[in-house]
Amino acid sequence: MNLSDLSWVMNLDLRAMDYPWEESMWRDLRNINLNLYFYLDKSGYCLFEKSDVFHIYKLVIDPKFRRLGLARELIEQLKVDAQGKSIYLEVSDQNEKAVKFYNSLGFEQLFHQKKFYSDGTGCFKMTLNTP
Ligand SMILES: CC(C)(COP(=O)(O)OP(=O)(O)OC[C@H]1O[C@@H](n2cnc3c(N)ncnc32)[C@H](O)[C@@H]1OP(=O)(O)O)[C@@H](O)C(=O)NCCC(=O)NCCS
Repeated sequence: MNLSDLSWVMNLDLRAMDYPWEESMWRDLRNINLNLYFYLDKSGYCLFEKSDVFHIYKLVIDPKFRRLGLARELIEQLKVDAQGKSIYLEVSDQNEKAVKFYNSLGFEQLFHQKKFYSDGTGCFKMTLNTP
């Protein structure tokens, strides 16, 4: 990802997320020893880690392009990459749209964790096994 992509990603994160990451977090990603990847296009992005389990850190679609099946396409792409492995994520229990989205794709709820985020809200830990 080049610097203009990074500023675009940060800008979308600011517009679309209730708790966007600070700029320093994005810049620090380069120094973190994780196998991180981006799917990126003009309508949104998915940031995930490739490991024994594929971990989605962020999935964001520009509000102008929602309900067009774009996030579903990103997950379908991820399923191909993750073939035979499972995909894991945490999603805020306040984020009804995202929970519905992941449910619609067959993700299963592993666990509800109270007070997961710094503001005291909880999360659902969800997983999907790929064929
Ligand atoms: C959640 C999010 C990624 C969904 O992106 P999207 O491209 O609009 O989703 P899709 O069009 O691929 O939706 C696929 C299915 O998910 C479900 N879904 C998606 N958005 C939904 C909503 N707002 N309400 C209810 N169901 C929804 C529907 O079943 C939908 O199928 P349908 O449109 O045929 O009914 C998007 O709303 C977003 O970027 N939200 C802000 C960031 C976020 O919360 N990310 C997830 C946590 S990391």
